Amino acid sequence: MPSCGFRPVSAASVTRAASTIRGTDVTRFQWEDLPQAVRDAVQDHAGPVVKAETATAGLMPGVAARLHLGDGGSVFLKACPADHPAAKLYERELWAGRVLPAAVPTPRLRWSSTELGWIAMLHTFIDGRAVDLSPGSPDVSAVLGLVAELGSYLTPYPGDDAPPVSGNVSALLAKGRHLLDRGTLAEQALYVAALDKWDVAELEGATLLHYDLHAGNLKAVGDQVFVLDWGFACQGAGWVEPVMFAPRLIEAGHTPERVEELLMDLPAWRSAPGDGVTGLVALWTLFRLYKAMHGPEEVRDFRGRAAAAGKAWLRYRLA
Ligand SMILES: Nc1ncnc2c1ncn2[C@@H]1O[C@H](COP(=O)(O)OP(=O)(O)O)[C@@H](O)[C@H]1O
Ligand SMILES: [Mg+2]
Repeated sequence: MPSCGFRPVSAASVTRAASTIRGTDVTRFQWEDLPQAVRDAVQDHAGPVVKAETATAGLMPGVAARLHLGDGGSVFLKACPADHPAAKLYERELWAGRVLPAAVPTPRLRWSSTELGWIAMLHTFIDGRAVDLSPGSPDVSAVLGLVAELGSYLTPYPGDDAPPVSGNVSALLAKGRHLLDRGTLAEQALYVAALDKWDVAELEGATLLHYDLHAGNLKAVGDQVFVLDWGFACQGAGWVEPVMFAPRLIEAGHTPERVEELLMDLPAWRSAPGDGVTGLVALWTLFRLYKAMHGPEEVRDFRGRAAAAGKAWLRYRLA
């Protein structure tokens, strides 16, 4: 493959192809959008790429693609222009790839580059299947087992370089405030009651959190579940992880009551402060509600379904 040297590519100057993501059209950068220098660097490390297969799940704009290699193997590439608004998520994923202990069932970071105008990472390719979180699926207990394992492997995080969970939650707070200040939400009182005694300081803690566990960030090989996509990794209280994940179980068809029963297997949940949980569920829900109302058209339905699940849990907790 001929090299044309480094050519910075801005987010706006490349053509992005549409891919179907959970039934919606979302655009993603493709392997072909990468500057030749980045493609050369990838291939210097991994060997010749014979085919690139863009992922059909995920909401982020960067490249997420299985690279088929000349030797018959595969690696997984994630990459984003360094000047893109989403670049910080890729920087964070790269950071996580370097600090995660080997025991965590996640694709291993094999190579990265930040010098060529893009943040690019190669991970092990997980040749797995999607998990099924619906009632009766054996994946439910496997995923809850993974959440418990993450809590034990990642507590305490020994470094001092982890972004604090309050930074992530400030985005939820901002959107939540926006909606609440307008005073036009159906069931506004529900959210106000949930946030009445809420204190962001309660979220602080010693656990390295994934923070974005949902079926799209999980893959199973047999009954082993792997967790992908550490773009929101941060440090906080261990109970934040199950609370951020639980609405996904409700979305998949479980009742809030059943979800709270299932969570009882997790030590982090058993020690969670009740008001802290309720406030965080309110913020989780308000953020998705905001995105369902004001976010990109193509993901509003998807966000709306998540918000409905969060709201069902909130109603249950405040009943
Ligand atoms: N290492 C990997 N092996 C196999 N598939 C992967 C891997 N990483 C990501 N994927 C697939 O690509 C999709 C999008 O990747 P993800 O890291 O979640 O990106 P995004 O930041 O866009 O959400 C995932 O839902 C998964 O199906
Ligand atoms: Mg993802």
